[in-house]
Amino acid sequence: MSKVIKGGTIVAADRSYEADILIEGDKIAAIGAGLTAETVIDAEGALIIPGGIDPHTHLEMPFMGTTTAETWESGTYAALSGGTTLVVDFVIPGEDGMMKALDLWEERAARQACSDYSFHMSITGWSKQIFEDMATSVSRGVNTFKHFMAYKGALMVNDDEMYASFQRCAALGALPLVHAENGDLVAALQQKFMSSGISGPEAHAYSRPPEVEGEATNRAITIADAAGVPVYIVHVSCEQAHEAIRRARQKGMRVFGEPLIQHLTLDESEYFNQEWDHAARRVMSPPFRDKAHQDSLWAGLQSGSLQVVATDHCAFTSEQKRFGLKDFTKIPNGTGGLEDRLSMLWTRGVETGRLTPNEFVAVTSTNIARILNIYPQKGAILPGSDADLVVWDPKASKTIKAANQKSIIDYNVFECQQVHGLPRYTLSRGEVVWGAGANEPRPGRGKHVKRPAFPAFAKALTAWKELTAPRAVNRSPEHMPIGV
Ligand code: URP
Ligand code: ZN
Ligand code: ZN
Ligand code: ZN
Repeated sequence: MSKVIKGGTIVAADRSYEADILIEGDKIAAIGAGLTAETVIDAEGALIIPGGIDPHTHLEMPFMGTTTAETWESGTYAALSGGTTLVVDFVIPGEDGMMKALDLWEERAARQACSDYSFHMSITGWSKQIFEDMATSVSRGVNTFKHFMAYKGALMVNDDEMYASFQRCAALGALPLVHAENGDLVAALQQKFMSSGISGPEAHAYSRPPEVEGEATNRAITIADAAGVPVYIVHVSCEQAHEAIRRARQKGMRVFGEPLIQHLTLDESEYFNQEWDHAARRVMSPPFRDKAHQDSLWAGLQSGSLQVVATDHCAFTSEQKRFGLKDFTKIPNGTGGLEDRLSMLWTRGVETGRLTPNEFVAVTSTNIARILNIYPQKGAILPGSDADLVVWDPKASKTIKAANQKSIIDYNVFECQQVHGLPRYTLSRGEVVWGAGANEPRPGRGKHVKRPAFPAFAKALTAWKELTAPRAVNRSPEHMPIGV
């Protein structure tokens, strides 16, 4: 059955214009004036944007001795209610290795996901098996590999392991992602604060200063350059990391940076709150920073040196956070944001004039679709694209309350924030999955979005590296020392 979205203004990354959108099956069939269909979706007074893509989530992830409480069902339903139609989640290999972990993630998502989903693979060591499994992962639609430079003794990898993995990524046409913090230094600073008697959540911020992130970001970029591969830095939280990315990009390097909506809108004063629970609920890595760093991140989005706004949705309950009551290093790291990313960014970004509506679409959907090599299937409003669309009402407003959220966590780091801009309808592959009475989770409806390797920017970098590679000087015998 065909549908038409009528009366709205289409906001794409490149322009805004008034037109109807005809949907046939799960695809956009036509865009233009006066289109008709059996079903009409009213977009009067609203904008139509491509469904949000959140490229950084951790649903049901085992981490720090526990497992994130947000399930695939609750997390993806929360995503749809906030206008996000695709989540990309991190597979963490356990003792059974990479492929078993991917099986597990695929199985959980297939059974529960309400929105579409895709996967990044994590590299947590180096071996011949991992080398081989990386190729198998790519053949199963994973074109991104995550490297943690922090979490010493757990997920952390060293420089030589990163260099080996980055070279493998280059050969496979895959993109390395990096959590950039100097893990050795963090571990040492954590011990320093614990032994000096500062054991509360405030010490989490003290033990991860911006320099620690800036140094690691610079190191990751250096390793990527040596390996001849583009690199994507996740959860960029501070000027020092942004500066390293900006500098690399100015030199023509293929480096991408992803700030989170939390770092853009919440600051480090949260950790000094009198209430332990309040502070601990906001413990994530890197920590929230002061306002000057926030200004830097906003400027990065405005100028294009940072390209994507994600959430790193990694949601633990208050009870789980209390594992670290006596020792801040045991507070499970992570915060939520999946449900509120678009509304928070609209309110704090577009309404303030920091971002245009088109820039908003670019950083919440289009740019990451390009980086992940799924554009224009996702991230676009074009004939032939998946009909992942949000009828976005810029006048609708709400006060964020944990009590009303779809996420199953017992708090919300944006509690009491007044936001403007909400989905009137969210469509996933042509079906209304939020709004107009379609307000029930539909687990199992989500589809796995497999991503091909070799995006254009990776091919371009490989060509350039080959052209400029060091070459041996071929010396004829008469130019060689005699008798040696
Ligand atoms: O604190 C965070 N960010 N937790 C999630 C794991 C990660 O580092 O991305
Ligand atoms: Zn991380
Ligand atoms: Zn993360
Ligand atoms: Zn407003």
